Amino acid sequence: MPLQLGKRAIAAGYRLTAFDSIGSTNAEALTRARDGEAGPIWFVTTEQTAGRGRRHRPWIAPRGNLASSILEVVDVAPSVAATLGFAAGLALEAALWRLSAEAIARSAGLDLNYRLKWPNDVLAGSRKLAGILLEAETGPDGRLAVVVGIGTNIIAAPEGTPYPTTCLKTLGLDVSAEELFCALSDCWADYRGIWDNGRGFGEIREKWLLRAAGLGEPVSIQSGTSSVEGIFDTIDEAGCLIVRTPDGKRVPISAGDVYFKSTASAGAA
Ligand code: BTN
Repeated sequence: MPLQLGKRAIAAGYRLTAFDSIGSTNAEALTRARDGEAGPIWFVTTEQTAGRGRRHRPWIAPRGNLASSILEVVDVAPSVAATLGFAAGLALEAALWRLSAEAIARSAGLDLNYRLKWPNDVLAGSRKLAGILLEAETGPDGRLAVVVGIGTNIIAAPEGTPYPTTCLKTLGLDVSAEELFCALSDCWADYRGIWDNGRGFGEIREKWLLRAAGLGEPVSIQSGTSSVEGIFDTIDEAGCLIVRTPDGKRVPISAGDVYFKSTASAGAA
């Protein structure tokens, strides 16, 4: 099966450029945006050699993993565009459940539990299965070009990371990058529609909170050299994580690595 869009993605007007191998699908999407590409268009590969992750970490996808970036050109402020990351996490989780449901029906012993981790990772159990990187810049027409890069571990998970990782193969799910991408493109069209240029973030937020890992539990958030500890209370209407600190304050966090303190294995992402 080649890399191809799902039916709902095609109906919603999405296009696809697939690569056998490329450095970074996010970098490619931003280059195309600078050249006037107005999207919406996916850039996808099953081998990424110079991928980038959050906080300037590398994200390499060996052959068989899925590296996908969607370019959307929008008329919203960068802070509103940033909330697309929550829609992306929901879309990927929905695609994973769609494919997992068939596998679970075939094999009763399969135990899969996907969760969303702030700001926009997808976990399987307490292990990182996928990461999402948003990058944005003003395009030649003055509009905001937003690239949502989604990296999913299909056949291999990175080792030596500061957090535990896994991949679909290790979980016992026999799904290819091509199958996952087809489902993801449909689910993205659904959640992009709900997001509705930020007007639907309230609904996205509610859905995200229902799927959130660690809600109501002790967390430590580290950003640079500073760290905040307390209870993960909620996310606010801007997507900030709200921590209830021991002195009763509710502190909004806009960026950082979250460590769950109740489970030793769930680290930063
Ligand atoms: C993270 O660090 O958790 C985010 C990882 C994002 C990786 C994806 S793979 C597709 C896209 N292209 C990139 O270079 N990065 C993103």
